Amino acid sequence: MPRYRQGAAAGPDQFKLSSNENPFPPLPSVLAAIESELEINRYPDGSAARLTEKIAEVTGLSPENVAVGPGSISLLQQLLLMVGSVGDEVVYAWRSFEGYPTVATLTGLTPVEVPLLDDCGHDLAAMADAVTEHTRAIFLCTPNNPTGNVLTTDQVEWLLAAVPSDVLVVIDEAYVDFVRDPDAADGLRLLADYPNLVSVRTFSKAHGLAGLRIGYALGDPAIIDVLRAAGLPMAVSNLAQRAAIASLDASDEVAERVEHIVGVRNRVMAGLLDQGWEVPAPQGNFVWLPLGERSVDAGEVFLRHGAIVRVFPDSGVRVTVAEDASVDAILAAAAELVR
Ligand SMILES: Cc1ncc(COP(=O)(O)O)c(C=O)c1O
Repeated sequence: MPRYRQGAAAGPDQFKLSSNENPFPPLPSVLAAIESELEINRYPDGSAARLTEKIAEVTGLSPENVAVGPGSISLLQQLLLMVGSVGDEVVYAWRSFEGYPTVATLTGLTPVEVPLLDDCGHDLAAMADAVTEHTRAIFLCTPNNPTGNVLTTDQVEWLLAAVPSDVLVVIDEAYVDFVRDPDAADGLRLLADYPNLVSVRTFSKAHGLAGLRIGYALGDPAIIDVLRAAGLPMAVSNLAQRAAIASLDASDEVAERVEHIVGVRNRVMAGLLDQGWEVPAPQGNFVWLPLGERSVDAGEVFLRHGAIVRVFPDSGVRVTVAEDASVDAILAAAAELVR
């Protein structure tokens, strides 16, 4: 079993840049919504009806196109439970989100990991070639965690055309709100043309609700109906549902915070470029330093500068873009690494 490794915790004087979380505290309106929902002796609304309607309204879809789950990782697991079992395969790029091997193995599917290209892009031709009669699903992660770069609309459409239409293609858009590249794929826009495509999104990142565990999936009603059935009943708390609705109601404030984080990302990136780093264009709330064998040592350097980052031994270091005050620490550590 590949065990899911959680990003390390931080001490009082350290920046926690290890889990791609949102650094902002909850919005006052979100806190107020939770406070009005303290009937925790009651089960939650298992259909998440109000939130489902709200998401449908915001995305311009109908409630039949929306499934809510306890975090997008749970929805990824439900999707695999739904389409496959032992002997079936799920194809995804590697390195990508660490939850993929976990949900694949838990559901009994065999993970087929296709190495990223040298520029950290998805090797879509190799992914299409990896599809066999056993393939039930493909995960596309854009922006890709941990490398931060996006798939373009053309790339996603190419893959959708290249694979059989009975293979479920899941576009994992956990970081979609931070994307500023106009060529980047937007799953929502593609759904109407590809019934085998599902977009998975989360309230953990832009909305800053990671601790409440809530995400959603968008797709064809036939898929969404079974996806809901594949989840444990009443797995999403009322607190999470209320908070998500309040956060969608506060979309201007959420957008402002996201814009702020994008600004911090731009400052980090400008500093790294000045120092001579070559890193993939970051479109999520994190940057990727492809340090290979030096990654573990680099993690120690960041730690000395008060930054807890995510180290992938022999591969690279992922640094979450968060508080303004963390930028100096990140750039000081990065400069030391260059020296
Ligand atoms: C690409 C990607 N997908 C999904 C998730 C899971 O998010 P959650 O389960 O909090 O919605 C994460 C979390 O870091 C992620 O990076």
